[in-house]
Amino acid sequence: MPSSQSQTWSQRFESALHPAIARFNASISFDIELIEYDITGSQAHARMLAHTGIIASDEGEQLVQGLEQVRQEYRQGQFTPGVEAEDVHFAVERRLTELVGDVGKKLHTARSRNDQVGTDTRLYLRDQIQQIHAHLQAFQVALLTHAEQHVETLIPGYTHLQRAQPLSLAHHLLAYVEMTQRDGDRLRDLLPRVNISPLGCGALAGTTFPIDRHYSAELLGFDAVYANSLDGVSDRDFAIEFLSAASIIMVHLSRLSEEVILWASEEFGFVTLRDSCSTGSSIMPQKKNPDVPELVRGKTGRVFGHLQGMLVLMKGLPLAYNKDLQEDKEALFDAVRTVKGCLEATTILLEEGLEFRPIRLNAAVAEDFSNATDVADYLAAKGVPFREAYNLVGKVVKASLSANKLLKDLTLEEWQALHPAFDADIYEAIAPRTVVSARNSYGGTGFDQVRQQLDRVRSHLNNA
Ligand code: ARG
Repeated sequence: MPSSQSQTWSQRFESALHPAIARFNASISFDIELIEYDITGSQAHARMLAHTGIIASDEGEQLVQGLEQVRQEYRQGQFTPGVEAEDVHFAVERRLTELVGDVGKKLHTARSRNDQVGTDTRLYLRDQIQQIHAHLQAFQVALLTHAEQHVETLIPGYTHLQRAQPLSLAHHLLAYVEMTQRDGDRLRDLLPRVNISPLGCGALAGTTFPIDRHYSAELLGFDAVYANSLDGVSDRDFAIEFLSAASIIMVHLSRLSEEVILWASEEFGFVTLRDSCSTGSSIMPQKKNPDVPELVRGKTGRVFGHLQGMLVLMKGLPLAYNKDLQEDKEALFDAVRTVKGCLEATTILLEEGLEFRPIRLNAAVAEDFSNATDVADYLAAKGVPFREAYNLVGKVVKASLSANKLLKDLTLEEWQALHPAFDADIYEAIAPRTVVSARNSYGGTGFDQVRQQLDRVRSHLNNA
């Protein structure tokens, strides 16, 4: 029987846990990630116990100092609890008791691991949300830097992945800035629901001690305390919400990644990947692979999986705490690591690993029929009803295709044979640059609009 076993459980246990079951049961291998939050939470609890007179004030002080020592030992690599500790909460309490003696055994008064783990997880997530928010901002700045250089670089715009209408490249990139703006807002929105203290909910029913939950919550910077102890120890809505917000971030990163992968292909040729962010093939010497966006696209699946996993984890749980809840942590930690890693890698890719090719891009939009809408708009502006103009332009495109010509190659006679309203200004009207700059409606791709969008985004980011 491991000696720790006898210390952990009450005297009702007569025999030790089977070693394989002990390993199966233990969460220390992953919840060690919470150790600093666990220590901070315990210090607040100890201070509250002293503040309310549940323990003496010098005892409270010894606990706080002892916990600080555990923190230092951990940071210096001197404290590395193993499976015998079961979980981070036991590990810290035990080390504390070794350091400060019997007073350490008072720390767990009026508390349970159920409210403790909930407290730790919320402190962790609150921190991580702020870090992810900062990563999102760096990512936006990287996008914005490209956008500012490419207001007048054109790129084919697609619907159904078919050439649709030409765009300002900056406009295309700013779409991702807008998405990630919502991502940041979403993270902020969920903070008030993460930042609630379950500390003092006890195992499920509260406690017989005259604790002050608001006091410890305030020490820990929580905005509120759970109003119902059963809810407090078993609520993981905040984790589901976070994983949902994280999944939406990954949707956006994955869509951008997919575009970069396409753009880097021979077929598109819109970007060049620099050596610092791409790899070669072990057999095909000509290859340069877009590993970063491919990995981001691939990792998206695991974050979605964690959201699904968390929903399924929760759906059948009776109140209140169930050991199933121990399974929330790896999902959360992995999702946090993945989102941070993907944001960081994509930001570096944008900052130094990817170069747009303006000559290729501008040439691409000159070689298609993506100005066809503008021919219809031209006629409509001259009084031809739009639907009629639209039908006529369909015929123009068909005729041009069979003559193996682009619209810009039609002669004025050919134009006028199609409709007498066409004039020599049709050539200027359908030039890609004209076409883009003319879409000057609010939020559109016209250069003036794009400059205004850039200004708005830039000042928003400067204020943040
Ligand atoms: N390691 C546990 C977890 O992560 C801590 C809470 C244990 N509570 C209990 N009643 N067994 O959920």
